[in-house]
Amino acid sequence: MAAGEAPQEKPRLAQIFDLVFKGGTIVNQAGEGLADIGVRDGRIAEIGSIGEGMAGETIDASGLHILPGVIDTQVHFREPGLEHKEDLETGSRSAVLGGVTAVFEMPNTRPPTTSAEALAAKVAAATGRMHCDFAFFVGATRDNVDDLAELELQPGAAGVKVFMGSSTGDLLVDGEETLARILATIRRRAAFHSEDETRLRERMSLQREGDPSSHSEWRDPEAALAATMRLLRLATAAGRRVHVLHVSTGAEMQFLATYKDIASVEVTPQHLTLTADEAYAALGTKAQMNPPLRDRYHRELLWWGLERGVVDVLGSDHAPHTLEEKSKIYPATPSGMPGVQTLVPVMLDHVNAGRLSLARFVDLTSAGPQRIFGIAGKGRIAVGYDADLTIVDLKAERVIENRWIGSKCGWTPFAGRRVKGWPVGTLVRGRLAMWQGELGPACGEPVRFGEALPKA
Ligand code: DOR
Repeated sequence: MAAGEAPQEKPRLAQIFDLVFKGGTIVNQAGEGLADIGVRDGRIAEIGSIGEGMAGETIDASGLHILPGVIDTQVHFREPGLEHKEDLETGSRSAVLGGVTAVFEMPNTRPPTTSAEALAAKVAAATGRMHCDFAFFVGATRDNVDDLAELELQPGAAGVKVFMGSSTGDLLVDGEETLARILATIRRRAAFHSEDETRLRERMSLQREGDPSSHSEWRDPEAALAATMRLLRLATAAGRRVHVLHVSTGAEMQFLATYKDIASVEVTPQHLTLTADEAYAALGTKAQMNPPLRDRYHRELLWWGLERGVVDVLGSDHAPHTLEEKSKIYPATPSGMPGVQTLVPVMLDHVNAGRLSLARFVDLTSAGPQRIFGIAGKGRIAVGYDADLTIVDLKAERVIENRWIGSKCGWTPFAGRRVKGWPVGTLVRGRLAMWQGELGPACGEPVRFGEALPKA
């Protein structure tokens, strides 16, 4: 080497991988087909045919489908303050047991995630302790509007979340002026819980003691539609994108189909799978959630929106409460049900039943979240992307059972349901967070976003 010349980096042998998945069927932007995947330094390094002896570890994936890591863009993991229901470790354990590689967590904790300190504390508590990658929504309040533009760019922030109707916790912004100020100040796509607070208050008397089915009468489809119409009017005026969480009614779905330039849409597996009458009869208060379960008519229109591409993402709205809390008498019972662990098997069962294609499932659970939230380096099986993979056995038939649930709450509304299609592996940045039901070491890190990349 001549004097003054920079030392050359030792060339790496391109074929050497830390981990290789051999013989699986990959489903990604290129379609569906047999290919090996080579992983190096936590990233996807090769897709194609990889010879023997090229990897530190080789996993035989023949007979299995390898999907881009499933991203659940709506979970409530309850830490800090409500750890008797869930914490970041147990919630993420439930996630990876269910094949989920990253979650976006909601701000209605105690204290709520409404300040830079609260957000940084969550990121610190989650890093290396959560089993999957994570981002946290920042809650909007009347008092923190001026801080939101800065807060939404903090490391680990998924964006701003607004509760337009009251649900679990105290976060609520229902004044039109404040909503308009929020939309004017932020730049990223904010997420909205869309139920009209005034209408909810007016109709409180429709709650019947001991009858959780009255929850769906009280929080009626009109309350959801009114808030969504108001939101889209304000977003249009402000020239902003918005994300409407857990859309539950047919009229909202049809309305949102006319706003695809600015509105992204989430549906939950429970709104797609359960109907109000059957669920209240079988599950009682466990079926109580906000927005509530609806009847068949609405469920069919959610599928209409899913089939026609109006729906962008699936979110589980994992909202665990203890069985003790759920065993109180309605309406003293809290709203919400767990779901992060059952999203994949419940939806793969719909794939096997022919209700959606595997390609559309992938679109909803990785490409969709990447597209609407601008996730950096995740959401595709492509060279250079994080090696986040959800490995599934589409032929496995299992019964979902409460004892399988890793969440602290220990129950699922889908207990007893026979499903076809099961998550067998969860790879998070090249590390096996779960393989055949066994957990690996926790290695969770913040998800990064193109609009808020941390400076090196
Ligand atoms: O049912 C629900 N439960 N809906 C929400 O919006 C909040 C959630 C919770 O945190 O329990």
